[in-house]
Amino acid sequence: MSSGQLYDTIGATYTVTRRTEPRIAARVWAALGDARTVLNVGAGTGSYEPADRDVIAVEPSAVMRAQRPAGAAPCVDAVAESLPFEDQSFDAAMAFSTVPHWQDPIAGLREMRRVARRVVVFTFDASDTTWRHRFWLTRDYLPEVADLLVGWPSLPELAGEIGARIEPVPIPWDCADGFLEAYWRRPEAYLDEQVRRGCSIWARIGPDAERRALRSLRADLASGRWAERNRDLVDLDAAELGLRLLIA
Ligand SMILES: C[S@@+](CC[C@H](N)C(=O)[O-])C[C@H]1O[C@@H](n2cnc3c(N)ncnc32)[C@H](O)[C@@H]1O
Repeated sequence: MSSGQLYDTIGATYTVTRRTEPRIAARVWAALGDARTVLNVGAGTGSYEPADRDVIAVEPSAVMRAQRPAGAAPCVDAVAESLPFEDQSFDAAMAFSTVPHWQDPIAGLREMRRVARRVVVFTFDASDTTWRHRFWLTRDYLPEVADLLVGWPSLPELAGEIGARIEPVPIPWDCADGFLEAYWRRPEAYLDEQVRRGCSIWARIGPDAERRALRSLRADLASGRWAERNRDLVDLDAAELGLRLLIA
């Protein structure tokens, strides 16, 4: 199943928990610089699209396209790996939380580079062997995530493909966008079905692993084991969890 098809299956309740986080949006929009025309690739329901620029969106899932708000930027049914635009036809191309879903991330990034003078990508550092260990959810409850990363290009490979610099993006403790790492200081949130349905990783690991992870997390929250293991997080306002901006 392609990722576009995956979101046709799992994307129906996306906007319940997924929305623009203003502090991260400020970083993305600053990285867009003075770009007037912006292509948003893997645009989903339109989060992070800057309101003060001319935006065109690309999104392969009909279910996601249907949830774009009235007045959102026009959206084309296409994939990153084959963008239906002329060379250098945008000032900038952006992609937020979507590169890990592409069938061929290198081809998609090359396409962004081809159609735009500037490229801004928000993704995570999967090449870092400590990534899974930095975040307690993947470290202690979702070992299956390691299998999903096999064969994934390293972040330096991705960045090198478009000549990008890499900037860390700390995640605020009260992050408004419910991506996988968003609730790092609010562990009870992962027990909420709607929170999990907003992140594709739960569908990818499958129902058995999901049930096991939840059982284990619920028990650790009740016994105080989670609090004991993660006591260093309680006083943090933002956490470095391997999320990165690539800017080229
Ligand atoms: C986690 S959502 C992110 C959506 C949006 N950028 C956001 O931040 O809310 C990932 C999106 O990537 C889209 N996608 C999957 N494969 C794609 C591809 N090959 N090219 C472009 N988008 C793709 C999915 O359909 C989905 O809408």
